[in-house]
Amino acid sequence: MPQITRIGVMTSGGDSPGMNAAIRAVVRSAIFAGLDVFGIYRGYEGMIDNQIEQMYSNSVSNIIQRGGTILKTARSKRFMDYNGRLQAYNNLREHNIEALVTIGGNGTFTGASIFDKEFDFPIIGLPGTIDNDLYGTDATIGYDTAVNTVVEAADKIRDTANSHERLFFIEVMGRDAGFIALRSGIACGAEFILVPETTTYIDNLTRLLKHDWRRSKTSGIVIVAEGDDMGGAYEVARKVKEKLPEMDARVTILGHVQRGGSPSAYDRVLASTLGFVAVRGLLQGHRGEMAGIVNKEVVFTSFDKAIKHNKDINKEMLEMSRILAL
Ligand code: F6P
Repeated sequence: MPQITRIGVMTSGGDSPGMNAAIRAVVRSAIFAGLDVFGIYRGYEGMIDNQIEQMYSNSVSNIIQRGGTILKTARSKRFMDYNGRLQAYNNLREHNIEALVTIGGNGTFTGASIFDKEFDFPIIGLPGTIDNDLYGTDATIGYDTAVNTVVEAADKIRDTANSHERLFFIEVMGRDAGFIALRSGIACGAEFILVPETTTYIDNLTRLLKHDWRRSKTSGIVIVAEGDDMGGAYEVARKVKEKLPEMDARVTILGHVQRGGSPSAYDRVLASTLGFVAVRGLLQGHRGEMAGIVNKEVVFTSFDKAIKHNKDINKEMLEMSRILAL
């Protein structure tokens, strides 16, 4: 295999706090290893449109603490077509870029996997998504910060819920996974956590809520993962209201506030470590894999496995959350 001398780095899909720390680590580790490194703007969109610029050590100064991504990001429809990918490949060739580090989630790695197979192009992925829905890493970059954002918001909602003796349904992100919901729900002492990985029965929920109120709970928080089978928070609230009209209920959708903000220390360290090992991995011949950390060890997992091999939610923790809220 020819020695790699020039690499590209990009972010793609939904942004997540810590992406900048990962870019910084990739750029500086690459320069330390004697490589030229190029930033590709706006994910696969910028690869197709040739928005590619060389980066230097000072290109990534003062970004470790910043949310979002200095390289911008996008969800690219054009990259789903062969012609878009061919254009992207020609642009990389024009810059003599021989390998890539791509930071993103499921969609990003699906594209990377196809691109590698079509054009024999070495790519390492870093798990950058708040959803934590990738197999092969205990946590994705941005997940910890997003959970902390939810907890901070839920604590504030708890104050007003208590004062008014109300029941709140708080909808959190996660696409079709319940990781954000479970972890934030435990941390804010939620009465219920509804996740897509388990079936939610309305009768069960209302019976337990009634029980809570009879035991003189004066507020309630139900964390609803956006992908829950019963529907979003408005839908769940509507169904509960039908059965318990006496309850004073409100709904809060946290939305994209969960994607922004300064990354937590945990996310900065995770992103820095993974950015560093991605460059080292490429030079050691890794490709078509995501770098992750499992039980404190660095592991490389094939893109296909990272995307398709479902990471299980811890059902015992779900059970525990309910016991602790009694
Ligand atoms: O994958 C990250 C995520 O924030 C999901 O939790 C959410 O379902 C989705 O992206 C929202 O996407 P968009 O920002 O394109 O609306």
